[in-house]
This record gives sequence, C-alpha cells and structure tokens, in this order.
Amino acid sequence: MRLDRYLSNLQYGSRKEVRRIIKAARVTVAGALQRDPGFDVPKGAAVALDGVVLDQDFAVYYLLNKPAGVVTANRDDHDRTVMDLIAPGDVRPGLYPVGRLDKDTTGLLLLTNDGTLGHNLLAPGRHVPKTYRATLAQPFTLVQRGPLEAGIAFKDFTSQPATVAVVPGTDARQVELTIGEGKYHQVKRMFLAVGNEVVALHRVAMGPLTLPADLPAGQYRSLEPAELAALKALLPKR
Ligand code: URA
Repeated sequence: MRLDRYLSNLQYGSRKEVRRIIKAARVTVAGALQRDPGFDVPKGAAVALDGVVLDQDFAVYYLLNKPAGVVTANRDDHDRTVMDLIAPGDVRPGLYPVGRLDKDTTGLLLLTNDGTLGHNLLAPGRHVPKTYRATLAQPFTLVQRGPLEAGIAFKDFTSQPATVAVVPGTDARQVELTIGEGKYHQVKRMFLAVGNEVVALHRVAMGPLTLPADLPAGQYRSLEPAELAALKALLPKR
C-alpha cells in the first residue's frame, strides 16, 4: 500500500495532509527515512511517525455509557465533552463520536477512529434503528401513539414510522421508542408534536449494539468482536 494512503487510512489526515507530513521527513518505514508519498509499504514493515511506531491494529471502537452533562463533541470551550471521558492511553488520532446525543441525554454512544464505518452508519438512507427510553411529563396514550407510528411531518423532515411501547411494569410515563433517523432533538420533537414532553432520555440500543447493563455512566469498553462484526454487517459490501 502507498505510504500516503497507509497514513490517511490511519486517520492521520487527508492524502494532502499526510503528504506534507511525509515530505517534512517525519516518517520512517522499517527504520529508514521515507520522503516519497508513493513509496510501497512492505507488508508488516514498521511505519513510524516522529519516531513512534504506528499501531497496525489501529482502529478502536468504544461503547460509552454517556452521562448527563457532557457534550457530544471533540472539544468545547465551556463544557466537558465525551472525549474527556476517554483515558489518554486510549485516545487515537481521528477518534470521534458517531452521531450525537444531547447534553442531557444519557446512554449508548459509539466512538471510533474508523471514519468509514462511522460515516456509513450515519449515511442518509441507512436508517440504523436507535432505541431510546424516554421519561415523559404526561402518561403516554393511544392517541399519541398513532402519529409516532405513522410518521410526523416536521418542517425539515418527516420521521420514518417509529415503534413505541410503554415499558412494562411502569406508570405509562416510561416508554421505549425506536426511530430510524437521528435528527437534531428528534425524540424530544416527536413527543412535543403529539402533546407530551420528554423529561429524561436514555439511549439503550443502536443497530445491533445494546447498552450493557453493567456499564456504569461515564464508563466505556471496546466493542466485542461479535458486536463489531454485527455492526460491519450493516455496511454495503465492497
Ligand atoms: N433525540 C433527542 O431529542 N435527543 C437526543 O439526544 C437523541 C435523540
């Protein structure tokens, strides 16, 4: 594989940016300085940037139980971000949250430096289902169910038919809603549109991933191989 592609695959920048890095004599291959972006990296050769050997097995996939009060962003001038919850040793160039949960929303959030996977999961038309447990201001009624399940026309989009059910054994203010899109404030807007209001929101599933019951808020763990395989199975075959 070409050296510039090797580095950009590892999220060190666009092809143009990594070419600049290579030309600045910061990269070695098998210990030898390499300034040619088109250099063919032999299989298994150690590639180092600024003297640090790059991990071959580089892609990371973290499943975070997002706590309330942190923003879903790479950095923020005022608030703590989900990235601040990642231990320094686990941070990789290009690590970012896939999708967005509001500051007050809790639950399942995927972080990865695999831009291809992240991009594909969010691609319009992919409609990876996302399930939220919502605590409502008012008890949920059958009248509210109809529009949620049929799809609601907002100014900017019409929601896909959702599935919604009261969580068994609760007082009808606890519902589980599954939606296909991930528009800004979507769940809150959907309940407002049917005359109710979300007072707390917790994401419990995204596609094949479910939030592990034993993962405390603010903690994360790497995806298990089976979870990653299930996620990759959603992507188009190349
Ligand atoms: N819908 C919302 O309203 N908020 C979220 O954080 C996620 C989905």
